[in-house]
Amino acid sequence: MELDWSLGHYEPTGKLLLPISERVVTMSEPLVGKHIIDLGCGTGNAALLAAERGAVVTGIDPAARLLEVARKRAAERGLQVEFAAGDAASIPVGDGTADLLLSVFAVIFAPDAEAAIAEMTRATAADGLIRLTSWIPGGSMTAINRTAGQFMAEVFGGGESPDPGAATPLAWHDEAALQEAFAAHGFSVELERHSLQLKATSPEEYLEESAQHPMAVSGAQALASRSDGEELQAELHRRLLAAVRDVNEDSAAFQVSNEYAIVTARRSVA
Ligand SMILES: C[S@@+](CC[C@H](N)C(=O)[O-])C[C@H]1O[C@@H](n2cnc3c(N)ncnc32)[C@H](O)[C@@H]1O
Repeated sequence: MELDWSLGHYEPTGKLLLPISERVVTMSEPLVGKHIIDLGCGTGNAALLAAERGAVVTGIDPAARLLEVARKRAAERGLQVEFAAGDAASIPVGDGTADLLLSVFAVIFAPDAEAAIAEMTRATAADGLIRLTSWIPGGSMTAINRTAGQFMAEVFGGGESPDPGAATPLAWHDEAALQEAFAAHGFSVELERHSLQLKATSPEEYLEESAQHPMAVSGAQALASRSDGEELQAELHRRLLAAVRDVNEDSAAFQVSNEYAIVTARRSVA
């Protein structure tokens, strides 16, 4: 089942990820007059930064609540940005619209990666770029998410045979896998690696903020539907705190480093 990103409170995570949008937008300059699509714009991080640099921006996201937050942020800054409901599998723009199609940790959640790549390449101008970000497995973020995923699989069962109609998962951080997926649409891919430090005053504070993330809220709702929901939630919290402490790099507070990829795709020269 697809996650409803309107659940809970994504905003603290959006703030933590803002430096990545800053990097992606800055490396894409100059942007004046260019049409930028921010696919999976969430609360509008990249969309607003691009609009501030003179781009004509369309932010697209399936989560209605996050679009409202993004609209409010744009209005507060006096920025003209069009925000629209939409999904990577069906991007609501014409062919060749985007000079730059950005997707900061967003298209990687599309259940059908092949459909998303077909749509992104369709929506990008002949000389345009697609630029997306993806976490590189092995970092603290993936360790913490794995702890939660394993616990939910223990509680609700997991590992059953996959739906034959299900989309093929794509390793969005893997240059060779991306090269193959984009080559089918005449695009070639370059990948850069970077690292983001996430900080908090303590592991407990980090976990408390993370508890508002749509994934955590969705998991908590599922656990609450069980008669032993309270014990299960307490056990998940205990395991997550252990995982967060385990990856902590700062004994006096909290810091973790997360490797991520910036992937740039452009049409191959014939
Ligand atoms: C981790 S958030 C990133 C949001 C924003 N780009 C940022 O940097 O803060 C993931 C975003 O992807 C969006 N998303 C999830 N599935 C999507 C899909 N199939 N197509 C487009 N966006 C999707 C979510 O609604 C959410 O806003």
